[in-house]
Amino acid sequence: MEKRDLLYTGKAKSVYATDDADRLVILFRNDTSAFDGKKVEQLERKGMVNNKFNAFIMDKLAAAGIPVHQEKLLSDTESLVKRLTMIPVECVVRNFAAGSLVKRLGVEEGKELNPPTFELFLKNDALGDPMVNEYHVRSFGWATDDQLARMKELSFQVNEVLKGVFDAGNMLLVDFKLEFGLFHGEIVLGDEFSPDGCRLWDKDTRKKLDKDRFRQGLGGVVEAYEEVGHRIGVKFD
Ligand code: TMP
Ligand code: ASP
Repeated sequence: MEKRDLLYTGKAKSVYATDDADRLVILFRNDTSAFDGKKVEQLERKGMVNNKFNAFIMDKLAAAGIPVHQEKLLSDTESLVKRLTMIPVECVVRNFAAGSLVKRLGVEEGKELNPPTFELFLKNDALGDPMVNEYHVRSFGWATDDQLARMKELSFQVNEVLKGVFDAGNMLLVDFKLEFGLFHGEIVLGDEFSPDGCRLWDKDTRKKLDKDRFRQGLGGVVEAYEEVGHRIGVKFD
């Protein structure tokens, strides 16, 4: 496999073509962004930490039968993945109230949501990733009903698998965001799963161990990501 042209630069990752039309290389950078790119900083080691964290989680999900784009780690900061045609919608599962849900509905942070909720957001920084509903997804042709049903089914499966993974490290999986795409007609999990795109709290102290440390200026961002990794068995070196 040979890495070729840079195809796309996102807020935290860069995507390269390869000599295989069905494969891409993802480079995890140290850039850390919040509030739709309004706050951006370079955090030492974050690219490496998220690349290895993501590979570990994707392997767990694949072992549970969830189709994932991740194929293998290539270096500290690069992974080889399947080339998906991305669906421009973010799927969010919440087990506890936090973040935009707390602001939108005025509920108390930390309230347990039983059953967990599922929300959809349009991936569009200029519009601030607005929340959309299933009818918008259908009417604007972002995904078919069957594709959406599969994305929802997989999102809840990911929740079941990862609640267990983080529980074993004495953490609560508060919420998370997934992005899916199509690979030869099949819905496959793309993007990444790292503390950049989920909320994780220590079960006893409720200490935040995710990107809210960056959003809220709490410090110790990458250290918290590494602590999460160590608790669940990710090897960083
Ligand atoms: P929210 O509370 O801001 O709606 O976010 C819910 C979860 O989804 C949280 O873990 C952060 C994640 N998320 C992203 O990673 N990127 C995004 O663009 C959005 C909207 C949410
Ligand atoms: N990832 C998004 C951004 O860079 C949203 C967030 O995490 O706050 O703005």
